[in-house]
Amino acid sequence: MHLPHTRRRPAGRGTGSPRRWRLATLLGLALLLPFLTGHSAQAEPVTVPNGTQFTDTAGNPLHAHGGGILEVDGYYYWFGENRHDDNNGFRYVSAYRSTDLKNWEFRNHVLTQQSDPELARANIERPKVIYNESTGQFVMWMHKENGQDYSEARAAVAVSDTVDGDYSWQGSFRPLDHMSRDITAFVDTDGTGYMVSAARENYDLHIYRLTDDYTDVAELVANPWPGGHREAPALFQRDGVYFMLTSGATGWDPNQQRYATATSLDGEWSEMRDVGDATGFDSQTTFVLPIQGTEATSYLYMGDRWGNASGGLVNDSEYVWLPVEFPDSRTMALSWTPHLTIDTTAGTVAPAP
Ligand code: GAL
Repeated sequence: MHLPHTRRRPAGRGTGSPRRWRLATLLGLALLLPFLTGHSAQAEPVTVPNGTQFTDTAGNPLHAHGGGILEVDGYYYWFGENRHDDNNGFRYVSAYRSTDLKNWEFRNHVLTQQSDPELARANIERPKVIYNESTGQFVMWMHKENGQDYSEARAAVAVSDTVDGDYSWQGSFRPLDHMSRDITAFVDTDGTGYMVSAARENYDLHIYRLTDDYTDVAELVANPWPGGHREAPALFQRDGVYFMLTSGATGWDPNQQRYATATSLDGEWSEMRDVGDATGFDSQTTFVLPIQGTEATSYLYMGDRWGNASGGLVNDSEYVWLPVEFPDSRTMALSWTPHLTIDTTAGTVAPAP
C-alpha cells in the first residue's frame, strides 16, 4: 500500500489554524483510504435486472449457480456451479470477477473433472470460498455427491494460493461422521472459520468451527434447530448480530425462506422466522453479500431460481438478487424489485426507480 507524501504546509501561508489543517488532512485521508488500500471495490453505480440469466463480459452465459462471493483486492470474485448442459452433472466450479457486481469477467474454471479422479463423475454443489489470513490460502468448501444420487452426503475441500487459480482437491468426507449436504462457509471477525451444513437427512443444520487452516472441521459448535428441516444456509454478520438465512427442503422447488439471529455463533439462536414471500420470490437462497462502501454497508440477497423446477437444468437457472432490509437490528426483510441499483463505491443496494 502506498500512501501519498503529506506535504508540510509552509509557515505563514494559507488560512486556518494548524489544528484545522491537521483535521482536514485526516478527513481527506479517511475518505481516500478505501481507494488507497485497494481492498474495497470501486465502481460507478449500475442497474441489474432481476430474475434473469447473466452473461459475462465476453458475452458467454455466466454459470455460477449455488454460488458465493469473496472480495479480494478491489474485486468481487463469484464462484459457483457450472454444470454439464446435457446431464446436469459436475463440469466446473467457475470463477468470475467484477468491481460493480454487474460486469463479470470470466477468470477460470477453478475446479474441473480433471482436478481429481473423485471428480471425474460427481456432483458438486454450493461451492463457497473463504480466505485464511494466517496461511494465505483460499479454501473452498462444497457439497459433494457421487453424480448419481444424494447418498454420499459429504463435504469437500479444495485449496489454492491465488483466488482464481486451479484449486487442489483435498478430498471429501462426512464431518465428524455426520451427513453433510447444503453448505456454506464463513469467517468471523476474530478470524475463526466456520462451516454450516445440513445434517441427518437435512433435518438438522450444523454449525462447525473449522481448524486454524480452515481445511478441516474442528468441532460441532451448534445444532440450533433440530428437526427444523432447513437447508441452503447463508450466514452473515451485521453490527454484532449473526443472521442465518435458510430455505425449506423441497429439492429444486422454491419455498418459504426463514432466518434466525444470534449474538454468538454457538448460540443462543432465535427461532426461525419467515422472510420474503412464500417462495423466496421464486428462488432459493445461496449467499448474502455484504457490500462495504464509503457511505454504508449494505447486504445483497443472492438466490437461485432453479431451472430444474421448471423442467430445465441447473445451467438454465436465473439469478434472483434482492436488497436486504433491516427494520431493526435483529430483523431482516426482503421485497421483490424488478431491477436493482448497486453502488459498490458507496456500498448501497436499492430497488431501481
Ligand atoms: C436442494 C438443494 C440444491 C440441490 C437440490 C437437488 O434442496 O438446495 O442445492 O441439492 O436440492 O434436488
